Amino acid sequence: MIWKLPFDIPLVTPTLGLPLEFFSVLGIIVFVVHISFIYMLIGASTASVVYNIMGVFKKDSNYDKFAYRMTNYTTVSENMGALWGVAPLLVISVLFTGFFYTAILKVSPHILHIIYGNIIAFLLSYAYKFSWHALENHKGFHIAIGISAVLAFFTLPFVFMSMSNLYMQPELFATVNSIWDIMFTPVTGFRLLNFFLTAFMATGVVMIFIGARWVKAGDVEIGKIAISQGKKWFLWATPLNIVVLPLLPFVFTTRISEALMHTPFIFLPFVASLLLIIAFLYVLNKFNEEVVTPQTALRAIALVLLSVFLMATTREGVRVVSFAEPLALQAEATTEFMTASLAEYKKYKEEMANKPAVDLNDPLQLAEAKGCLSCHSVDMKLVGPAYKEIANKEADKAVLIHTMQNGSVNKYDVIPMPAQDVSNEEAEILANWILSLKEVK
Ligand code: HEC
Repeated sequence: MIWKLPFDIPLVTPTLGLPLEFFSVLGIIVFVVHISFIYMLIGASTASVVYNIMGVFKKDSNYDKFAYRMTNYTTVSENMGALWGVAPLLVISVLFTGFFYTAILKVSPHILHIIYGNIIAFLLSYAYKFSWHALENHKGFHIAIGISAVLAFFTLPFVFMSMSNLYMQPELFATVNSIWDIMFTPVTGFRLLNFFLTAFMATGVVMIFIGARWVKAGDVEIGKIAISQGKKWFLWATPLNIVVLPLLPFVFTTRISEALMHTPFIFLPFVASLLLIIAFLYVLNKFNEEVVTPQTALRAIALVLLSVFLMATTREGVRVVSFAEPLALQAEATTEFMTASLAEYKKYKEEMANKPAVDLNDPLQLAEAKGCLSCHSVDMKLVGPAYKEIANKEADKAVLIHTMQNGSVNKYDVIPMPAQDVSNEEAEILANWILSLKEVK
């Protein structure tokens, strides 16, 4: 395999002595929290537009109210999603710097869409939420704002997934040179399909849960809408996802897919899929009863979350097998670099130790060794006055010695002289020498 990695950057992972596995597990957990909010964000923003439109067509204000309530789930999820998104990014960028950094460069500047696209989508979704009542009589315009927000949110996974697929498959670094080279590939398409299916499936089951709580609180009409619509979303998206999950490990490059088959990670998508089958049958079974309890819905949510967790762990598995070889090469390059640096340092130390001792009988050599000559010269003013000038002005040897050892200010100029590290013996030699430079008129 020919790797095009930045091996010239020696990487030492700062782990505080903790095993790397600790950071992997931390990465998985923070990612699951982050992605759960992102799923809710995508689902809730879509739902609030869909039911806003349905409210208009059905002329049913309950749909409108339901749609409005979903905007709260959008804004809370987008804040939490963005906040928690920082954590997995930090873990990944520290653990896999070379891969992450290279992929970011390759998909630049389009990766910046994550920043400005997010800001646009944030602003649109807030405008949609807070103009709800003000634009009551301009429904078309209001819905257009909502659709724009949803479309803006939908662009983000395309950009992010492209970068993510690139860094996880470093063998593509040599051929991928822009975001478009990776965005329209089967791996990105398939993982995006899984992403959107999971978003709708997860939002569906959450809608059932919040609907059940509304019914329990006496908000029966809107609660029933949430439950029945949530079931539709869930029962539609989940079967497709059940098929998609076990196929996911095979969309990566042959090298990664084959390596994955020799690890237990390959079983996780099947287990995740199985959990979804159970959740599907469970919800289907409760489908006949019009009203489910919040507890029932929570069980389905738990199954979905567990399946999301297993898929996140599978992703970690992809990284483990994908980075094994290049990481070993990188470690080798780092060791080489460190060994060379240490050897150079040792050589320097030896050179310093073998330097001939300063000849005390030669004051100029002593002044040089003590660093005096970086500020003084014999007959020219540098930072400090010329030694000749000093000799002409000051005849008291004790004063000179005192200055050398304690520093001086304002005697010649505004620039002060800091105290120097000279012994009594050295100061004596230097002072005698400076005084001997006095010009006889
Ligand atoms: C960071 C720059 C700097 C270094 C290094 C430095 N000097 Fe000075 N030296 C000065 C300055 C500036 C003055 C003038 C101070 C003043 O105006 O009071 C000065 C003044 C002196 C004076 C005049 C003192 C007096 O009271 O008239 C002597 C003697 C002297 N330096 C010797 C030395 C010797 C010897 C060394 C090395 C051991 C040394 N200097 C290193 C900046 C330096």
